[in-house]
Amino acid sequence: MYLIFFIKLCYNCFMIILGIETSCDETAASVIKSARGLFTVRAHVVSSQVKTHKKFGGVVPEVAARKHVINIIPTIDTALAQARLSPKQINVIAVTKGPGLVTSLRAGTQAAKTLAYAWRKKLVAVNHMEGHMYANWIERPRIPFPALSLTVSGGHTELVLMKGHGKYKLIGRTRDDAAGEAFDKVAKILHAGYPGGPAIQKLAAKGDAAACAFPRPMIHSRNFDFSFSGLKTAVLYQTKGKKTAGRRLHNVAASFQQAVIDVLVAKTVAAAKQYGVKSVFIAGGVAANTPLRKQLAQTLKQGLPKTKFYTPPLWLCTDNATMIAIAGYFRARHQDFTPWQKLSADPNWELI
Ligand code: KG4
Ligand code: ZN
Repeated sequence: MYLIFFIKLCYNCFMIILGIETSCDETAASVIKSARGLFTVRAHVVSSQVKTHKKFGGVVPEVAARKHVINIIPTIDTALAQARLSPKQINVIAVTKGPGLVTSLRAGTQAAKTLAYAWRKKLVAVNHMEGHMYANWIERPRIPFPALSLTVSGGHTELVLMKGHGKYKLIGRTRDDAAGEAFDKVAKILHAGYPGGPAIQKLAAKGDAAACAFPRPMIHSRNFDFSFSGLKTAVLYQTKGKKTAGRRLHNVAASFQQAVIDVLVAKTVAAAKQYGVKSVFIAGGVAANTPLRKQLAQTLKQGLPKTKFYTPPLWLCTDNATMIAIAGYFRARHQDFTPWQKLSADPNWELI
């Protein structure tokens, strides 16, 4: 019995995980090694389709899926070569099961199933949003609970209370557009470029955030829900029939970005106070927004000086497979495996 316990303990301490991510338009594969709760990234490969979708101004699902099918095996091969590991040395395969575009997800889940069967590996199904949250664990394996996550991506805007690993409670979410979606739509209105978030951030850096009086939707509501569709419409009305270029373009971008940040910061701090959390972190593509990171850090420091604040490294904010491998590690530690025969893509998989 002691021997079984010891083997289990060792298995939990040392694990090499292959992560696979194909939920949207990035084909990604990573290899991480966990040793006593510390992670080493042995390989991090992202084959981006941004150039392909740029000309359409957004992701075309059918095109994305075809590209994933072509890219998935070479991407995994590159990751293994980068890690200098053979399939034999992999302990677990972690793959994004959902949410996302179903045709994109299928490319990753099919590859993971096939490899799990052929290589006789354990398989872990990971929720994409959980992956974004776990990007925060890469450098700090001991984030104190209860923790509050502001999860902001292209499809989600949520405040999630995390009482422990895998223990989630949804306390607020967007009622219409996600924050990232608003950035993307406003970038289209302003012909700012693709993807929208980084393009708006760049324009905003040279603008006056107080130039346009955009609304702060639901900032004073007595719940932790969000709404960004009205803000996007306000930008549309502000710019309709007028030439938006030069200084004016920078000012509109800066004012819009500030309105989004004000709402995200106010709601996050209020939720952190109400739930008495020990730590707050941000997750998802919008977490790459530098002014958001800075202003949330500042406001938390002033209002809740004892609460710890974490941000994922910039290279782990947008879609990647390292975050999927980390989330996979925590599921594997709890023996949360899926037999390869039972794994299927779930485009609407809600974490909570
Ligand atoms: O998490 P993610 O890579 O994909 C989803 O799971 O949706 O998030 C993509 C979103 C896009 O809407 C993109 O415009 C936004 O994240 N984004 C940003 C920034 N970088 C990416 N939004 C604001 N500022 C950024 N720097
Ligand atoms: Zn994502």
